[in-house]
Amino acid sequence: MNDAPWKTRKVVIVGAGAVGSTFAYALGQSGLADEIALLDPNRDLAMGQVLDLAHGQAFFPAVQIRVAETSDYADAQLIVITAGSKQRPDESRLDLLQRNIKIIDGIIDEIVRQKSSAVVLMASNPVDILTYAASKRAGWPRGRIIGSGTVLDSARFRYLLSRHCGVDVHNVHAYILGEHGDSEFASWSMTNIAGQPIQQFCSLCHTCDDAEAARSRIADEVIHSAYHIIEFKGATSFGIGLALTSIAAAILRNQHGVLTVSTVLEGEFGIEGVSLGVPCIVSQNGVERVLPVTLPPDELRSLVNSATILKQGIAQLELDAASVAEVSKP
Ligand SMILES: NC(=O)c1ccc[n+]([C@@H]2O[C@H](COP(=O)([O-])OP(=O)(O)OC[C@H]3O[C@@H](n4cnc5c(N)ncnc54)[C@H](O)[C@@H]3O)[C@@H](O)[C@H]2O)c1
Repeated sequence: MNDAPWKTRKVVIVGAGAVGSTFAYALGQSGLADEIALLDPNRDLAMGQVLDLAHGQAFFPAVQIRVAETSDYADAQLIVITAGSKQRPDESRLDLLQRNIKIIDGIIDEIVRQKSSAVVLMASNPVDILTYAASKRAGWPRGRIIGSGTVLDSARFRYLLSRHCGVDVHNVHAYILGEHGDSEFASWSMTNIAGQPIQQFCSLCHTCDDAEAARSRIADEVIHSAYHIIEFKGATSFGIGLALTSIAAAILRNQHGVLTVSTVLEGEFGIEGVSLGVPCIVSQNGVERVLPVTLPPDELRSLVNSATILKQGIAQLELDAASVAEVSKP
């Protein structure tokens, strides 16, 4: 008989808005968690979401769904942060930074105060800068605080390629790398359809007149997807809810899956001092390691460009923090 104590797979979701509640719904359906706890300063919203979700329990795999307290951080396996403002139409993710950084600082301080040993997964935007700031603030090993990065963007890319090429999305392997934002880019060197590199696939497949133009149109559509959805319905939620569930699966099942989460680079690709989406092995420890891949010079330049843009955001944060400290000096 195995006498090892039963360890509940407990997930705390911080922020019970569109993203937090959609993720809770997808996570509940997935059967990955034993306990899902929702935390939001708007207690009525958290309670409403919990009751609504809990009433579907007869149709879910067994899971306990309830409103969380900050003390729930202590024994959670995974804490997913979806708290804060979202983009308004015509606003970039970087514009959100000033509004969301204070919220994230407060949440991270409380997680550390509760001596949590969870992996923290950031979804709030701008996700790369907030992941970097949270990682520095907590002072934990880099892999334990990760961002959703370009996991959703890569899924959008696979979907658009699959539709264009007429091949099941599950047979399309493709990654968007860099900033989760305007400077992200398609890694065509890592794109393959059923094992065939995309260039080779295109040279044998004659379903479109101009494959190069089609590739460029698809990459552009991925980058602008969120803007279109926000224009139509005010927020994105289903795609990110599912993307967070796939990252949660890699963590809760210790899957060692390859996902383009956002992680702090420490010299990989010649980049450091910034967090951004690159292929990583994700396990119960968060990012186990950055997957070593050789990018061609144009893709490497695009990755460095994303890093430079994100570093400007980080520098702005550091500048703001320094001026706040100066003003509050006695
Ligand atoms: N990473 C991605 O791919 C991705 C995709 C979509 C949205 N997002 C981001 O996710 C975030 C949330 O978006 P949304 O549509 O759910 O917004 P929303 O306004 O619907 O929900 C945000 C929730 O956060 C709560 N909140 C505020 N301060 C909090 C705190 N200190 N602790 C806990 N909760 C707090 C609010 O009360 C609100 O309920 C935004 O920053 C958005 O840009 C990221």
